[in-house]
Amino acid sequence: MSDSYETIIRETDKHGIATVTINRPQKLNALNSKVLDEIKEVFDSLKKDDRVSAVIVTGAGDKAFVAGADIKELRDLNKNTGEEASRKGQQIFQKIENSRKPVVAAVNGYALGGGAELAMACHLRVAGSNAVFGLPEVGLGLIPGYGGTQRLSRIVGRAKALEMILTGKQIDTEQARQIGLVNSVAEENPVEEARKLIQQILSKGPLAVQKAIEAVFTSDKNESYRTEAALFGELCETEDFMEGTAAFLEKRKPDFKGK
Ligand code: COA
Repeated sequence: MSDSYETIIRETDKHGIATVTINRPQKLNALNSKVLDEIKEVFDSLKKDDRVSAVIVTGAGDKAFVAGADIKELRDLNKNTGEEASRKGQQIFQKIENSRKPVVAAVNGYALGGGAELAMACHLRVAGSNAVFGLPEVGLGLIPGYGGTQRLSRIVGRAKALEMILTGKQIDTEQARQIGLVNSVAEENPVEEARKLIQQILSKGPLAVQKAIEAVFTSDKNESYRTEAALFGELCETEDFMEGTAAFLEKRKPDFKGK
């Protein structure tokens, strides 16, 4: 079975494993509002689809999983719309985390900013040898706004999370595996590796798998996500944000003034 969207390919194999491929390879699968809306739609439909037992999320092409939120669209945000955009992204990614069907990210290249946040909203992460993880938002005068400040700390601990968020540095597959950001490394194809991992899970008691996911995520607090969104919105009205995003689009280094 195969459903198609404008920016997403959804396929389901005979074992009930659905693959959701973010399909905007010419922009390294960057998350514009269309992609975000379609991620929401696809996860709503997967939830209701009894033929689907588990989900793999990956990116089209061989270069990127997802290279982040679409920086061109970010530029139009102000304090209010910035906070709203952050809440919207958080809520869509929450849908993924709230799925009781296991969701595994198959990271096949750049997973930066919103792309890293998307991978972190999945329950588990498998990476190909070319994966690159990073939260470069501070280099744009921003902070991660789709739950990244919360989830990265939970996954790798606060010290490593802060180091990555404050420096914006990129790490490769092996470094990501060492800090626990990646559960396993694929020798060849991360989607096939994710499929193997899912098959192990699907051989277990289905109700127990659902309840285990629910139990693991039960302590997450909504309040901290609201704070992330409010701070993201505040930054959208700064000169640094305008400078950081302009510098990316003009392919030059930003000149931040702290204003
Ligand atoms: N938003 C919008 N467009 C993006 C994008 C993003 N997050 N990431 C990549 N693109 C676009 C580029 O603008 C370029 O478009 P163009 O061909 O029309 O100029 C195209 O995708 C290819 O990217 P390019 O930068 O030319 O590829 P590269 O191999 O030189 O560099 C990256 C790859 C991932 C290092 C670089 O694209 C990058 O730094 N992207 C932004 C990452 C980021 O800051 N994400 C967080 C956003 S909050």
